[in-house]
Amino acid sequence: MATEALNPKKEAVVDLWKRMELELVPDEEIRKLMKIVLEKRINWDSKPSHHQQLAQTLDFTKSLRSMKMATEIETLDAKVYETPSSFQQIMCGESIKESSGLFTDETISVEEAHIKMLDLYCERAHVKDGQSILDLGCGHGSLVLHVAQKHRNCNVTGVTNSLSQKEFIVEQCKKLHLSNVEIILADVTTLEMEATFDRVFVIGLIEHMKNFELFLRKISEWMKQDDSLLFLENYFHINLAYHCEQIDEEDWYNGYIFPSGSMVMPSASCLLYFQDDVSVVHHWILSGSHFARTFEEWLKRIDSKIDEIKGIFESFYGISKEEAAKLTNYWRVFCITAAEMFGYNHGEEWMISHLLFNKN
Ligand SMILES: C[S@@+](CC[C@H](N)C(=O)[O-])C[C@H]1O[C@@H](n2cnc3c(N)ncnc32)[C@H](O)[C@@H]1O
Repeated sequence: MATEALNPKKEAVVDLWKRMELELVPDEEIRKLMKIVLEKRINWDSKPSHHQQLAQTLDFTKSLRSMKMATEIETLDAKVYETPSSFQQIMCGESIKESSGLFTDETISVEEAHIKMLDLYCERAHVKDGQSILDLGCGHGSLVLHVAQKHRNCNVTGVTNSLSQKEFIVEQCKKLHLSNVEIILADVTTLEMEATFDRVFVIGLIEHMKNFELFLRKISEWMKQDDSLLFLENYFHINLAYHCEQIDEEDWYNGYIFPSGSMVMPSASCLLYFQDDVSVVHHWILSGSHFARTFEEWLKRIDSKIDEIKGIFESFYGISKEEAAKLTNYWRVFCITAAEMFGYNHGEEWMISHLLFNKN
């Protein structure tokens, strides 16, 4: 799948992808290769002085303002987000939270870590019963269902561009007898709606956007004028702000998991330059090691049910055993590479940010 979607420049890269798909590259080798990519990224984008690094961030944020709100939506959907929910449940756990857990100690499971993170979002966003809640890019509804169950008087609206995700959430609502949930199937960048909300959540979505100014402006229009808050989780690099594009012809990673250039990695301060329509009320950071551990746990869960997953892919996509095996290996590489990125430098390099905004 990955091999078709991309446009590699070097035969060695194509060869590596093929060998990874056929599981001919040991995990330890993939980890080593990923560390090389990460070091290259740091060397590539790091400037010799703080002064120059800041200038780079300012240029980058300025350039985002002249871009479209987002790109590559169809490719992203098909590749990563139109997946069988039964597979996602094996990988991420029952609640299918497709973002980081919060590992408060060594012993907790990934499922517990996901619940702890959902509780942290609600605490930081001051969620209370009776509020209207909007979750943009709601995935399989981990936050939507969490809030709707805890606060029966909250009306919770989720927006996703993935049909399989919407169907999964609707099914869960039936099972849980929830009547306070609405799921809108839409591309958030073109969605128009009159409604306004007390709380808006954006978890793991802004990386898919380009023009943060337009995106935050759109969100601000869905916030009530008084006392409404936007809670946003994003991943960032401590200094570097970049489009996740292939660095050079030897770069096998950028373009393998997501289409080259479709994702943005903001720096720690990047979003603070986009306060045209919303203003920062609070800002927290969390170690990348939470996300690294999440991916390691997802990998273990894949490995514990590998044959079942291949069967799920065969019937969901109508593909051969060989293609299903390749796809399973793609998801393994997805977890391994992300674990290396967020675990790099003990989680102090690529990290997690929580931002709370009010409407201007
Ligand atoms: C990394 S997942 C996070 C999902 C969820 N927030 C969670 O934490 O489990 C990103 C989500 O954003 C959705 N998404 C990406 N681009 C979108 C767009 N343009 N419009 C609506 N949803 C989008 C994907 O379908 C996916 O559900």
